[in-house]
Amino acid sequence: MRLERTHYCGTLSAEDIGQKVVVAGWVQSKRDHGGLIFLDLRDRSGLVQVVFDYEKNASFFSEAEKLRPEYVLAVQGAVARRSPETVNPRLSTGEIEINVEDLEVLNPSKTPPFYIEDGINTDENLRLKYRYLDLRRPEMQRSLLIRHRTLMAVREYLNRRGFWEIETPMLTRSTPEGARDYLVPSRTSPGSFFALPQSPQLFKQLLMVSGADRYFQIARCFRDEDLRADRQPEFTQIDIEMSFSTVKDIIIEIEGLVSHIFKEVLKRELMVPFEIIPYQEAMERFGSDRPDNRFGMEIVDVSEIAGESQFKVFQAMIQKGGVVKGINAKGCGNFSRKELDELTQQVQRWGTGGLAWIIVTGDGFRTPIAKFFMPEQLMEIRSKLQAEPGDLLLFVADQRETALKVLGQLRLLLAERLDLIPEGIDNFLWVIDFPLLEYDQAEGRYTANHHPFTAPLEEDLPLLSTDPLKVRSQAYDLVYNGIEVAGGSQRIYQKDLQEKIFNLLGMSSEEAEEKFGFFLEAFQYGMPPHGGIAFGLDRLIMLMAGKKSIRDVIAFPKTAAGNCLLSGAPAPVSPGQLKELYISTISRDNKKNE
Ligand code: AMO
Ligand code: AMP
Repeated sequence: MRLERTHYCGTLSAEDIGQKVVVAGWVQSKRDHGGLIFLDLRDRSGLVQVVFDYEKNASFFSEAEKLRPEYVLAVQGAVARRSPETVNPRLSTGEIEINVEDLEVLNPSKTPPFYIEDGINTDENLRLKYRYLDLRRPEMQRSLLIRHRTLMAVREYLNRRGFWEIETPMLTRSTPEGARDYLVPSRTSPGSFFALPQSPQLFKQLLMVSGADRYFQIARCFRDEDLRADRQPEFTQIDIEMSFSTVKDIIIEIEGLVSHIFKEVLKRELMVPFEIIPYQEAMERFGSDRPDNRFGMEIVDVSEIAGESQFKVFQAMIQKGGVVKGINAKGCGNFSRKELDELTQQVQRWGTGGLAWIIVTGDGFRTPIAKFFMPEQLMEIRSKLQAEPGDLLLFVADQRETALKVLGQLRLLLAERLDLIPEGIDNFLWVIDFPLLEYDQAEGRYTANHHPFTAPLEEDLPLLSTDPLKVRSQAYDLVYNGIEVAGGSQRIYQKDLQEKIFNLLGMSSEEAEEKFGFFLEAFQYGMPPHGGIAFGLDRLIMLMAGKKSIRDVIAFPKTAAGNCLLSGAPAPVSPGQLKELYISTISRDNKKNE
């Protein structure tokens, strides 16, 4: 490169008028106005207009005529004020332009497969195949910048708070997060495999045994699970662990961290402390363990009135030990029969029998089930749901969990449809006191709700022997605008309690020893009380950048099928490589013979 860059394109302004500068970048667009060619040059800081004037330099002008989008150039010239009619108020450099005095074409470019600009409607697979071009688009660069700034803010804050950044292995044994492992064959131990970490969980706990006291890591995690918009097979955690800590300590540290990130990166102040909602209450009010609290429409229990009504569906459900719960879709009394039928079909797809509805009108109620209720009962329902004329009340009768789950989903669907979610709100809340265990019907055993190292709430310890499903844990999730962005817990640090939990999880001592022996051994060498948390960094950035998918905030993400369209991974390997690893493969068609 003959010309040496002096400035980034997007940083020039009226203050630089008269200066001789060199900028370098890619051709965004070109407009040919007879003897003048206007060209927008782009780098990661933005655009600047450069002008080729035939009168001033005919040879550069004719070179400029051949320039096409995405050619890479360096230009030298003087910064000049644009004539008033050509000022572009939408560009930060819109008041100025560079009159070209020297041009160096550094590289030509093929026509890119899509426009390098924001808001394109291109098939995502094409964007992923040409990700390096996709990442040239300003909105993608903005996401990368938010991510970078967040990481810097995290390191700065945690360092200040006394956390040490410590790396843990990528080639390791299976970790306990419950997804399928990605395996890596070992050449030196034929037939044995490393597992890529689903999280640094065991190592960070061992670091507490080591006396590291306060640890963090920007950790890559690998989980072979069904992918969604907020799940990738490899993703990044801000992973944190603290010794001699309580739930309260973690909450305070994390609220400080998140506030710092928002202030540094987005220049937004968060209200701390965040609301804390116990799991049971979150389920009762929002039908979700990651409630979106940016709007109302909370779930209300009407089981008692429903049980006293003559409506068979309700009566039967209450007799079976079920519940009737409802929500108030404010102002939706004008929904058509067709719309109501569609909602009914929707809740049926979510797994309940149907949907009962009552429309509150100026002079009473419009509903197919009116005849089963006494007028006072309808009035009581109306007041319980704080309904006014024009409101639509929707009810689900089912077992408690199903009714809550279905109404929780319906609540979100309606909020989206009715545009109830206000823009520009940062709603953070904690969900605590999760159940320690779940019951897996298919496997006929308890499973850990968080992971097997999560400590039970002390006051619930006696229930471990009598009613394990009632035991609450010292686990906490951080929820941001209805999405779980972080999760963690206080850990078990007593060997006998850990063994008891393994037992409850249906793991024999031998099995526990085989899976986690190295970890269990550490319990015997002075394990301090400790706890921690991990952020899904990608999810946090997705929400901060206002994106709908974590793919949009990961430089090189995988598709929903777990492939990298850019590199073509995963790909077959040579027979020689397999032989070296003592591995033979069978074709997909032969799978049944496995
Ligand atoms: P957990 O499994 O809840 O906890 O993960 C922590 C956070 O990571 C994010 N996350 C994901 N993000 C993208 N793609 C995925 N596939 C994915 N899976 C999880 C979520 C989640 O809140 N070791 C424990 C933490 C601890 O106990 O300290 C753990 O990994 O935002
Ligand atoms: P059915 O007796 O099944 O025809 O249902 C009568 C009405 O009750 C219909 O409007 C159904 O959508 C509604 N319904 C059925 N099952 C339930 C349920 N589990 N919860 C609420 N409403 C229901």
